[in-house]
Amino acid sequence: MLSLAAVETGNSRHGGEPAPPFDLRGHTALVTGAGRGIGRAAAGLLARCGAAVVVNDLCEHQAENAAAEIAESGRPSLAAPADVSTVCDVERVQQTVAEAGFEIDLLVNNAGISAYRPILECSEQEWDRHVDVMAKGTFLMIRAFAPGMVARRFGRIVNLGSYVAQRNCATANFGPYCAAKSAVVGLTEVAAQELAPHVTVNAVGPGDVATDMMQREWEQEGHLRGMDPGAVRQEYRDRLLLGDFEHPDDIAGAIAFLCSPLASHITGSHLIISGGLPHTVAPTQSRLN
Ligand SMILES: NC(=O)c1ccc[n+]([C@@H]2O[C@H](COP(=O)([O-])OP(=O)(O)OC[C@H]3O[C@@H](n4cnc5c(N)ncnc54)[C@H](O)[C@@H]3O)[C@@H](O)[C@H]2O)c1
Repeated sequence: MLSLAAVETGNSRHGGEPAPPFDLRGHTALVTGAGRGIGRAAAGLLARCGAAVVVNDLCEHQAENAAAEIAESGRPSLAAPADVSTVCDVERVQQTVAEAGFEIDLLVNNAGISAYRPILECSEQEWDRHVDVMAKGTFLMIRAFAPGMVARRFGRIVNLGSYVAQRNCATANFGPYCAAKSAVVGLTEVAAQELAPHVTVNAVGPGDVATDMMQREWEQEGHLRGMDPGAVRQEYRDRLLLGDFEHPDDIAGAIAFLCSPLASHITGSHLIISGGLPHTVAPTQSRLN
């Protein structure tokens, strides 16, 4: 049930802790790549909304830290470290979840990688890794956990797309990443059709979120262009209509929304949360403030 009071007040209660924007009590979420960045923020917010949360990450110790943090806040949580791009690891996650008695009804396919890589300099291995982690990983997780949702006649799946999976974006040098994210968006649309009517499947498409992923991209681009990563970062910031990078919490809010009753009639969509990208501040355009 959605708590309207929580939505309306939206801020402090219980002596300062912000009220959760949605009521997800009674649900169990699994968030992949939730050891840091956007996934960690999403896992934290879903837990704050009352969901039990299974934290997956390739990095065991990141997954365990994130799960421990959620447990400390009083919500049930479980670490399930695994590589989402391999069948045997995904089967291990299924087993861990089943042994804990959890039934996943909110699945967030967030695990991802990115590299600044011109097509002509991209190795087969780099190409495969992008497509395997994001497109195949999303497919494997849906294949593993959607049958239970269909059987129980309820499920919410949110995949991490990207604004780069839209047309008319400036995406040069991100070929493998764009291909993988376009595949995720395509898969989202097909899964929405195949899993309807009780399971919704959507994607969220962040723009530039200040996480470790973006930091690595700025470093790689700076290296290839002979620039300081800080100067590359400034170039990225200067083009943003809203004047600054998104925060992982901005994306987590959209993910929680798509898991909430408010979004029960949204499926097959790719919700762009990009601070305006691909529209950018024109070089000659002065800001009003
Ligand atoms: N940061 C951005 O600007 C941005 C923009 C658009 C989309 N995204 C997408 O959002 C998602 C999260 O990005 P982020 O910025 O938080 O990245 P991040 O690099 O900070 O975190 C990604 C997490 O995924 C985990 N991971 C990587 N490969 C994995 C695998 N095979 N199995 C399980 N876990 C794995 C990593 O260990 C890491 O904890 C990604 O899918 C990314 O493509 C990010």
